[in-house]
Amino acid sequence: MSIDRVPFITLNRFESGFKKQFLSGVAELVDNTQFVGGPQVATLEQKLAEMSHAKHVVGCANGTDAIQIALRAAGVEKDQVVLLPDMTFWATFEAVVNAGGIPVTVDVNRDTCHWDINTFKQAVDEYKPRAAVLVHLYGWASPDTSAIRSYAAANDVLLIEDGAQCFGTLCDDDSVLGNALIATTSFYPAKVLGASGDAGAIFTNDEDIAKTARTLCNHGRSDHYSHGLVGWNSRIGSYESLFLNLSLEHIEARLASRLAAVEYYREQLVDIPLKVVTSSDNVEENGYCAVAMIDPELRPELISTLQSANIGYGTIYPGAMSRQQGAASFLKGKIDFGNADFISKAVLNLPCFAYVTEAELDYVVRTVRSHFN
Ligand SMILES: Cc1ncc(COP(=O)(O)O)c(C=O)c1O
Repeated sequence: MSIDRVPFITLNRFESGFKKQFLSGVAELVDNTQFVGGPQVATLEQKLAEMSHAKHVVGCANGTDAIQIALRAAGVEKDQVVLLPDMTFWATFEAVVNAGGIPVTVDVNRDTCHWDINTFKQAVDEYKPRAAVLVHLYGWASPDTSAIRSYAAANDVLLIEDGAQCFGTLCDDDSVLGNALIATTSFYPAKVLGASGDAGAIFTNDEDIAKTARTLCNHGRSDHYSHGLVGWNSRIGSYESLFLNLSLEHIEARLASRLAAVEYYREQLVDIPLKVVTSSDNVEENGYCAVAMIDPELRPELISTLQSANIGYGTIYPGAMSRQQGAASFLKGKIDFGNADFISKAVLNLPCFAYVTEAELDYVVRTVRSHFN
């Protein structure tokens, strides 16, 4: 069958037997009225700790809550300055504001699309922040992760790592999520490890931070009707945990198929005015998305071609954080070299999802190549 459309992402390429296993697991949870907490949640947290090499993992309701909980559990208090990248998803900005922090956006490196150590140092020296949220985008990680961690620790800056997109990503041969002071991820269904609804998690090697995080996501409880902290309800669901536990059995195949797609684009889309960008040498990406860069002047026409060929695409993300309307009344300052703004106009994401077929990839490649010929 010849291909005439490829979605940007589809979530329904389940392994054979997966849906059946999930539905029978749901029936069991209902029979046992195990709606909140229980063995699926405990098993998930344990598996995630094993995979990421973090000592403690706390499941929570979503990736945005995870950042808010992480900021508070790490010790960030009201009206303290928190740095965040100018290129990220808006949830990072929201989390800083919702946790009571005062956001300062810091530009990313134009080549790596992530923070670099020099700009991070400049921001710490200029703004003396209490904390910073290092974001690892695109399933990559900042190549300067280790230097940023060291500089933050030496300058008493609490470093929270937003790894919503980087489950399974390695930096310097080590798990990003497992080596942070405190890191977070999202299990939004479109992530590499997606749940059957919203979910997220917090990863740390610090026992006190883990304890506080767990307390914050459960109404600040010290026991059932005693509340040592003001938290909220951000517990992870048991159906979502079941879905994630079953998904973890296939995670290697899912990541391998995404990575193969990115590699195919990289090999095939050469000698044209569109460059498929790779993560840095010391980073092993997870295939979350295929990132290409194009002259911003040429992007609209290529997008029209993709639309006419029924090919989905993304522009992750189409605007810098400091330029969002909602940022104006909260932003305390920024370091802006125009890089996030440039990336937002130059980035183009091609279809990438688990079990995308060779025929689909070939259709995308032929369409893009013929656009420029
Ligand atoms: C970088 C980043 N941070 C935070 C989030 C928020 O996660 P969630 O949608 O689970 O709240 C996302 C999700 O898209 C994200 O990509």
